[in-house]
Amino acid sequence: MTQRALYRPALQVLESPEAVAAEVAQRILRFVETRARPVLGLATGRTPLAVYARLAAAHRAGTSFAAVESFNLDEYFGLGPAHLGAFACYMQRHFFEQVDMLAGHGHVPSGLGDPALEARAYEATIAEAGGIGLQLLGIGLNGHIGFNEPGSDFDSRTRIVTLDESTRRANAKDFPEGTEVPREAITMGIGTILEAQRIVLVATGEAKSEALHAAFHGPPSRGCPASALQLHPCVELVCDVGAAHRLCL
Ligand code: PGA
Repeated sequence: MTQRALYRPALQVLESPEAVAAEVAQRILRFVETRARPVLGLATGRTPLAVYARLAAAHRAGTSFAAVESFNLDEYFGLGPAHLGAFACYMQRHFFEQVDMLAGHGHVPSGLGDPALEARAYEATIAEAGGIGLQLLGIGLNGHIGFNEPGSDFDSRTRIVTLDESTRRANAKDFPEGTEVPREAITMGIGTILEAQRIVLVATGEAKSEALHAAFHGPPSRGCPASALQLHPCVELVCDVGAAHRLCL
């Protein structure tokens, strides 16, 4: 790997997953409230659910998301937006419908159609919006970010990928019984993610401690996609004591 500057994330460790969600929601709200045209990168999964619940509560208390444009990290390939396992459906239910975002301003990559065309169009739409200002990010048990599985190129762009079996197993509970987790997905690349001005990485629970350790101890390596975050000067890691217990930053 060519020599590039390495950075440490700004770490905040909190007592509980609830405190982590409150802190991350506060950071997003401050960003939304202080920008004329806030562009968010958004994530799905179990960890951000409590963050979205707090953003929805902030909206009920008066915060407007009407100026926000957002871009989700990924989508399963082959699923339409109404499928219960689709991230587009998750985002509608947990965030877009709960706030006053304008129709068409919450982007999720399409899991249907020609993935190469969709990937190019998605990158172009992010660029047209002026790039992502704040990217909310989770981390997989295997160190994936978005659906960039181990082995992904740090310069990768939005593209179709094959999911690890471990990822399909971890996400099976999000699918109605008897439904197969898709084998492929469309995801922002690691290179795409690293172009965000600011990245807020959120992790809770001891099960994530190994992945966080692999991400931030030792040199960046394609074996742990999240270790690419060491190449970004502005990563904020907010986690609970369980997830943090192997970190020494
Ligand atoms: P989780 O997913 O929040 O459901 O653990 C994180 C991820 O896979 O990025």
